[in-house]
Amino acid sequence: MLHVNENYSKIKPTYLFAEIAHRVAAHQAKNPGAKIIRLGIGDVTEPLAPSIVAAMHRAVDDEAGRENFHGYGPEQGYAFLRDKIAKCDFQDRGMDIRSDEILVSDGAKCDCGNIQELFGTDVKIAVGDPVYPVYVDTNVMAGRGDIRLLPCTAENGFVPPPETAGDADIVYLCYPNNPTGAVATKAQLQAWVDWANAGKRLLLFDAAYEAFVRTPGIPRSIYECQGARTCAIEFRSYSKTAGFTGVRCGYTVVPDELVAYASDGSGVPLKPMWTRRQTTKFNGASYITQRGAEAIYSPEGQRETRATVDFYLGNAKLIREAMCAKGYTATGGVDSPYIWVGVGSKSGDAGDSWAFFDKLLAEANVVTTPGAGFGAAGEGYIRISAFNSRENVLEAISRLDKVL
Ligand SMILES: Cc1ncc(COP(=O)(O)O)c(C=O)c1O
Repeated sequence: MLHVNENYSKIKPTYLFAEIAHRVAAHQAKNPGAKIIRLGIGDVTEPLAPSIVAAMHRAVDDEAGRENFHGYGPEQGYAFLRDKIAKCDFQDRGMDIRSDEILVSDGAKCDCGNIQELFGTDVKIAVGDPVYPVYVDTNVMAGRGDIRLLPCTAENGFVPPPETAGDADIVYLCYPNNPTGAVATKAQLQAWVDWANAGKRLLLFDAAYEAFVRTPGIPRSIYECQGARTCAIEFRSYSKTAGFTGVRCGYTVVPDELVAYASDGSGVPLKPMWTRRQTTKFNGASYITQRGAEAIYSPEGQRETRATVDFYLGNAKLIREAMCAKGYTATGGVDSPYIWVGVGSKSGDAGDSWAFFDKLLAEANVVTTPGAGFGAAGEGYIRISAFNSRENVLEAISRLDKVL
């Protein structure tokens, strides 16, 4: 009998963005002339930085000649990139991470989704609520249905304290957060690290938005906390840092000290397991892509990519201020490209996030993301993304001003 993996029937049938796309398409069909502005899905709009493009062109030329041609590369990533990452993203910022602890991939989504393969199906998982859906769905697909939800609310500043995780073995944390745009202070992350180390637990830290942190003292990596090497894996992505959503590249840091436990209680190191997983199921990010990623770390690459992130932060500030001026509460938009707007926070408005989404689509032709799509605790909020041109952001703000 060809038995299906029934866990797939336990994941939510429609992925959030598919439902949004469906509603937007229906609206466009009814209003063919409407100029819809998309501040929903978090995809970048600005082109690659010139120094990255030049490096990728040079890499294409390498591939065009016998002398510098590159076929299959190391599955873990080329040393030229891993060395730059270790130095620029960690060692130069005072963190003790070595290049052989970095595994380059084609983006953080795959790594966040695949990492759970290293753990028993009986491990207890905890995630924030609301949450980036990949953490939940990939665990459900693997048969881990009993997932603890840590409410991220206005009361706790959208950063749940470790006490709420109870008996969880693995906790996914993401700061700056998608979807709430919230950041965690060093003290808050240190509390998580101390909690994890005290109970032989593991933190899976998603730092996909670290490049947006501008406030001094806000951590850009979990390894800024004392003791994180013994309890945390970190995911990084060039998608939002350098406009690589279409190019595809990221990396995962697995420090040598990390272990999970065999049934006899002995510690099994995770880095060799993750390496084995990647070398078995993944054949490396392309040479051209990795040369492009390397260029991010050149002085021009740093200057150019920082300027683009600053541009998005400028959009975020405008959106946040506009929503606050209209009487709504808004989190994020500072150190983050996402603004999390309390739709029921202005008196007279219903708190239903899909209804608010529909209103903005119907009356302003502006697409946002309903908070409820990220979890029950997201009800009452919408997420507005700052990834767009300045012209579109200003136009969207002016339309929202009229309808709200
Ligand atoms: C929190 C979070 N993690 C990971 C990713 C995926 O990043 P990548 O494009 O590198 O796969 C995203 C993208 O939206 C994200 O929001």
